[in-house]
Amino acid sequence: TPPELIRNFSIIAHIDHGKSTLADRMLQATGVVQARDMRAQYLDRMDIERERGITIKSQAVRMPWEVDGKAYALNMIDTPGHVDFSYEVSRSLAACEGALLLVDAAQGIEAQTLANLYMAMENDMVIIPVLNKIDLPAAQPEKYAEEVASLIGGEPDDCLRVSGKTGEGVPELLDRLVREIPSPVGDPDAPARAMIFDSVYDTYRGVVTYVRVVDGMLKPRERIEMLSTEAVHELLEIGVSSPEPKPSQGLGVGEVGYLITGVKDVRQSKVGDTVTSAMKPATEALAGYQDPKPMVFSGIYPIDGSDFPVLREALDKLKLNDAALTYEPETSAALGFGFRCGFLGLLHLEIVRERLEREFNLDLIATAPSVIYQVTMEDRSEVTVTNPSEFPSGKVKEIREPMVHCTILTPSEYVGQVMELCQERRGNMLGMDYITTDRVEMQYTLPLAEIVFDFFDQLKSKTRGYASMDYEPEGEQSADLVKVDILLNGEGVDAFSAIVHKDAAYAYGLRMCSRLKELIPRQQFEVPIQAAIGSRIIARETIRALRKDMLAKCYGGDISRKRKLLEKQKEGKKRMKAIGRVDVPQEAFIAALTSD
Ligand code: GTP
Repeated sequence: TPPELIRNFSIIAHIDHGKSTLADRMLQATGVVQARDMRAQYLDRMDIERERGITIKSQAVRMPWEVDGKAYALNMIDTPGHVDFSYEVSRSLAACEGALLLVDAAQGIEAQTLANLYMAMENDMVIIPVLNKIDLPAAQPEKYAEEVASLIGGEPDDCLRVSGKTGEGVPELLDRLVREIPSPVGDPDAPARAMIFDSVYDTYRGVVTYVRVVDGMLKPRERIEMLSTEAVHELLEIGVSSPEPKPSQGLGVGEVGYLITGVKDVRQSKVGDTVTSAMKPATEALAGYQDPKPMVFSGIYPIDGSDFPVLREALDKLKLNDAALTYEPETSAALGFGFRCGFLGLLHLEIVRERLEREFNLDLIATAPSVIYQVTMEDRSEVTVTNPSEFPSGKVKEIREPMVHCTILTPSEYVGQVMELCQERRGNMLGMDYITTDRVEMQYTLPLAEIVFDFFDQLKSKTRGYASMDYEPEGEQSADLVKVDILLNGEGVDAFSAIVHKDAAYAYGLRMCSRLKELIPRQQFEVPIQAAIGSRIIARETIRALRKDMLAKCYGGDISRKRKLLEKQKEGKKRMKAIGRVDVPQEAFIAALTSD
């Protein structure tokens, strides 16, 4: 297809605002999927995917659409809908010239949509505003059309009104896509350059890589090169999804499709990378490539130590489809053998953990999430700390922590509560805008560490569920941080060490000490539980010793009862972890880690 007849677009929407339903309608309206074959949500069938272990979900679909007698090819590119994946979103947007801004006409715009919208506007993309679900009795298209117009400019009447449910307005939407979104521009004679905007692992075909061709042409059977790694692969198949994969004789300027090289790991086909032809390689990569960078770390341990090999295997499998997941073995005195895992953010952590538990039947315990700290020592050496227990013990000159730029949308009546929360979390307000009279957009910089710890839940509870937020990384900042250790009878318990702000150290120490006091059974001697910064004790609790006469009781009574007791004790012993002289049931550590 010549570039003049191609339109590449994506849909920017908040979860539940109806992106999948609308996408299905477009497939139907363009005849790509017949109504009778139309199962609910063609593009979004995660459960089936899981059951069959294959990927049906297409990251890009090509649809034919005729306007004024000309046959156009519309490429709809899917964007991930979650905060931790803003880099992936940015690459999907970079593959398009335009975007639909899809807003639920009964809800209005949400923070996450806003963040993606700004990204699209910065890229000078054409934005087509669309209010969805106008069939709902609760829809307020007038009100939200004004909100949208005040954000992107233009008149409220420019907002299309559609219903993914009834199909109303969908043909008009497709016409407008063709008229308003510019056709792609590129040099057909230049060496081939295509940008990877997604890559997914498929059990049968290996990695399926989705690309947008910028210059030149990619043809089947030729050798292709990934510019970031200079790795060369044979291009086994190239084609378009419509929505089933259709092999083609090549993809040229502006076209969107998939390619298959037989690689087995998405790390060899990285989102944002430039694909070129190995025979006549391009010298300059397309802008915007970033290596996936884990931001949040957590130790993940099987509750049953014998599951460790299963956990390793499960992580090896997940990795095939998740270029951002990192892990390495780690041992903890309190929790045994596990892995230190790195994630893009808290949500990514939760997704991985849930998949491990559900798909691999594992019971897991995760240590409190931690961010990456850069520590400069007095002797000017630099240390990167992803695990508080690795914090250097020498003289520290400076500690820097990662910061994020956070966008919060809230009804105006909760502005005070949101400000209070952000201040508590060491936030710095950058600005505040009334989008409409009753909705406010607030911008903050906040330490990432403050966000990973319960921020989202707090925000929701302080605004009765009405506020929404989004964040993106924004450099690092020096801060007054200390490492707090928890000592049991003088021995450090690694799983509970934390790096916290100086002002929060005492509260953290006290909380952990009193929690452990509740959970650890009495021993035959008195056990102090202490919180310390270096050698300075900042909080203390004491587990009193068992009284002598309580012990004595065990030695009386009939012999069978005594034997039973001894057996029980032996069983219990297996799950005990010894911290110095103190025996602690593993459950106590688990409870202490989960009771937040
Ligand atoms: P995620 O897949 O979670 O990102 O959500 P999504 O944005 O793809 O939304 P989805 O299409 O799954 O729709 C969310 C809910 O809204 C579903 O219950 C749909 O049935 C409903 N819905 C979608 N479009 C319409 C519409 O036009 N009218 C009405 N009444 N309901 C709709």
